[in-house]
Amino acid sequence: GRQFFVGGNFKMNGTIKSVTDIVHHLNSAPLDPKTEVVIAPPGLFLLLVREHLKNEIEVCSQNVFDKPNGAFTGEISAEQLSDSKIGWSLCGHSERRVILGEKDDFVASKTKAALDGGLGVILCCGETLEQRESDKTIEVVTTQLNAVAEKTKDWSKIVIAYEPVWAIGTGKVATTNQAQEVHAEIRKWLAETVSKEAAEATRIIYGGSVSEKNCKELAKEGDIDGFLVGGASLKPAFVDIINAKQ
Ligand code: 13P
Repeated sequence: GRQFFVGGNFKMNGTIKSVTDIVHHLNSAPLDPKTEVVIAPPGLFLLLVREHLKNEIEVCSQNVFDKPNGAFTGEISAEQLSDSKIGWSLCGHSERRVILGEKDDFVASKTKAALDGGLGVILCCGETLEQRESDKTIEVVTTQLNAVAEKTKDWSKIVIAYEPVWAIGTGKVATTNQAQEVHAEIRKWLAETVSKEAAEATRIIYGGSVSEKNCKELAKEGDIDGFLVGGASLKPAFVDIINAKQ
């Protein structure tokens, strides 16, 4: 079976004090040892978090550049993250796609660079409300994933996060049926595009207004292998989400 995976994306939130408090809370909380846990603090705090967090929890960058080094002001490479014992990066989060204008092809280059540099990647995909309402959800998601598949054959270190844009930060969680339906389509896409083995082994996690209240129902679905949590990852309730799988 696939190991349950829960990521916390702090986004651009927190201070040295509040982030350290979250780390200490996680260190002392009773976490289900069967769940793989990864947290993504703002880049400024990655090393602080790695230093204080117990080893079972991995640290994830919210961003990575697609070149190993050089004159790229403001960017961080996969090599620099690996060297700092930061084992993961997010790629293709909708906030970077929408606000920073990252295109599918750039997301794919970053994903390849992260994997080549030894990182695991939480690869985010998802449709806007307008795209859902015009029945384009599967087309949008598979187009985003196809760009990555063109550059990357080995998906063993990729976790796919399905995050419908209309559910992010809105309190409007996808229904269990809506999420399961897209996850099943992504798994079908993996079987057809990457391999049967990848379809079986790849974790497909859901993100978008996940809370301690809705996580247990979502976790029952056969193709939902965990969560990518935004707002609730900053709160003590994150522990309940980590422990959602019955
Ligand atoms: P929220 O959980 O705040 O809706 O954010 C989801 C998300 O974007 C995680 O990457």
